[in-house]
Amino acid sequence: MKTPVTVTVTGAAGNIAYSLLFRIASGEMLGADQPVILNLLEITPCLEKLQGTVMELDDCAFPLLAGIVATDEPAVAFKNADWCMLVGSVPRKAGMERKDLLSINGKVFVGQGQAIAANAKPTCKVFVVGNPCNTNCLIAMHNATGLPKENFFAMTMLDELRAKSQLAAKAGVHSSEITNMCIWGNHSATQYPDFTNAKIAGKPATQVITDEEWLKGEFIATVQQRGAAIIKARGLSSAASAANAALMTVKQLVNPTPEGDWFSVCTITVEGNAYGLPVGIICSQPTRSNADGSYSIVEGLVIDAFSKEKIAATCDELLAERCDVSNLIG
Ligand code: NAD
Ligand code: LMR
Repeated sequence: MKTPVTVTVTGAAGNIAYSLLFRIASGEMLGADQPVILNLLEITPCLEKLQGTVMELDDCAFPLLAGIVATDEPAVAFKNADWCMLVGSVPRKAGMERKDLLSINGKVFVGQGQAIAANAKPTCKVFVVGNPCNTNCLIAMHNATGLPKENFFAMTMLDELRAKSQLAAKAGVHSSEITNMCIWGNHSATQYPDFTNAKIAGKPATQVITDEEWLKGEFIATVQQRGAAIIKARGLSSAASAANAALMTVKQLVNPTPEGDWFSVCTITVEGNAYGLPVGIICSQPTRSNADGSYSIVEGLVIDAFSKEKIAATCDELLAERCDVSNLIG
């Protein structure tokens, strides 16, 4: 039996967690032979609701679930964590942009970044779902003194899967035929789903879908606005699909990426990066996981003038968000 991996999930009584926790406990995220301990963090008023989720986890009798800690104390929740999945934060309502949440949610990631640095394993990985996830991740990273900056991630997998589903529907193929789909930039209405480098059944997507107007217009807009469309339809933001994307991201990060493919995740941009992105933002880029557990940004993709403009716009938004939280990142 392997040593259990400790996964901390914040916002554990919330909607996303209600889908996510059971799938983590079943072994779907870290593997069918990997026991997990779930450390669940909530705010005090939601502890009773969290107890209901804990009872349901108990009632599943998952063979791989090696322990559950439910708490409102970050120091307890992050103790010895291998993975910190930061879901807990307020979702937006219809008519809001995700960045409108910064003034409410941003400060949560100061305290949690500090608590992670003080309590989690020095090798822990931190994955932010709570919106606006890129800049919340930046805040957590800046406040987690001593932890490697490259261990901080934010989620654009949901956008990638949305983009794949849209391309598949247009091309009349199954979504599993869509590969090499990258979301660039911010998990926001400026994100750029890069159809120019995507493939459909191994062929360039632009050879299979020749409707350039659709690709440059409706396709991009649909992916950018999908979160808002779900809020409008459901009256609540995406939850099961967000949990699925969170699970898929961690799965992608812990398993080597199939040859020739890549996936989308937001990570810190560094000096001398391959695409001339501004340094020091948490930006979605084409990423591959390596056999040793590290990751690399895919270099050498052709970025045409249209893509360049879109990527610059989303990076500009990330720079502006960074400016807005300058008081939280020291
Ligand atoms: P929710 O309101 O159902 O649940 C959030 C939970 O977080 C609540 O139970 C709340 O009590 C808890 N919480 C708030 N502050 C906390 C804190 N300081 N510590 C611990 N717990 C805290 O919301 P949800 O639908 O689960 O969504 C959670 C977040 O995920 C939202 O910000 C939402 O916008 C975001 N989201 C991101 C993506 C993405 O693709 N990145 C997708 C969907 C949702
Ligand atoms: C999403 O993309 O579904 C989430 O970020 C929720 C939202 O606010 O749109």
